[in-house]
Amino acid sequence: MTVVPSEIEVHSYLAEGDERALADDVLDGLTRPFKELPPKHFYDARGAELFDRICDLPEYYPTRTERSILEARAEEIVELTCAAEIVELGSGTAAKTRILLDAMQDAGTLRRYVPLDVTEQMILETAAALVDEYPGLLVHGIVGDFERHLRHLPAPLGPRLVAFLGGTIGNFTPGSRRRFLRGLAKAMGPDDHLLLGTDLVKDPTMLEAAYDDSQGVTAEFNRNVLRVVNRELDADFDVDAFDHVAFFDREREWIEMRLRASSRQHVHIGALGLDVEFEPREELRTEISAKFTIKRLGADLAASGLELREVLTDPDELFVLSLSARPGG
Ligand code: SAH
Ligand code: TRP
Repeated sequence: MTVVPSEIEVHSYLAEGDERALADDVLDGLTRPFKELPPKHFYDARGAELFDRICDLPEYYPTRTERSILEARAEEIVELTCAAEIVELGSGTAAKTRILLDAMQDAGTLRRYVPLDVTEQMILETAAALVDEYPGLLVHGIVGDFERHLRHLPAPLGPRLVAFLGGTIGNFTPGSRRRFLRGLAKAMGPDDHLLLGTDLVKDPTMLEAAYDDSQGVTAEFNRNVLRVVNRELDADFDVDAFDHVAFFDREREWIEMRLRASSRQHVHIGALGLDVEFEPREELRTEISAKFTIKRLGADLAASGLELREVLTDPDELFVLSLSARPGG
């Protein structure tokens, strides 16, 4: 029997609909004229481990840059927000979040951590680790989709800092990004702040290297989505027959990630009774990662009903952490 400490509460909103959502996305995405899969399906246990390795790659500057900004400014963030709790969307292993939790603990405001992620295992492990590291901390974990389950956030215990780190906001297409931010603004109260991590437009060579590393970890991560489909939907993708492609689209200012069939492929997806053909060199889009200018960031926030309050960046202006809130709040 596992004993769950009384400080921890975990609610799952995925249990049923979850495979269904993958099935719908695969059916919809693989029968389009230009094939596409949404990115949230990358993160099974193996995907999460590969993502951790991406964060440590020399080419992947966003993680260490965001961490350095947090280290320099956490105290100020806590002072400005008076946060009693952190609500973290796409929390993963909460590696960088500890910098904020430490600052809240030092300021004496820390009461609760509310992680929300699609991967249940990460919520459970992170919750267990954090109540150990921060005596007295309450953890209210939510296993869910940040596009669908924000209404299940618990009533606040005090001013909230809603953290959305890692540049994950860039993985939305521009339209769904604004829809998401509008929903988030509605879920926030007048005392709450959004702490948003966004990657900035920069030299394309540096950007492309971050998504096509020399050790091939990102390539493996990209192909992992095919393994997920094979396992969950009884499909027979020949995973090694797909090559990793990553390029910066200069007009749209986003990195686009694709998988390219090295030869003609026939794929059967058992759970859907679906057969899919790939022409030689045909590509499947798996992810975009939008890069921002501070101007565009402010415009997106304003269009969603949020006011940009602070822009925190590193000396080379590679990455931005912004603080925003509801006007008048
Ligand atoms: N915040 C961490 C992890 C970023 S990776 C960091 O900054 O390093 C993106 C995380 O978001 C993963 O843990 C993934 O499981 C989660 N995620 C992706 N799409 C999601 C969705 N639609 N709803 C909830 N979580 C999602
Ligand atoms: N949110 C991360 C980003 O856009 C996710 C990410 C990093 C990613 N590397 C990746 C997603 C490679 C897919 C493939 O930077």
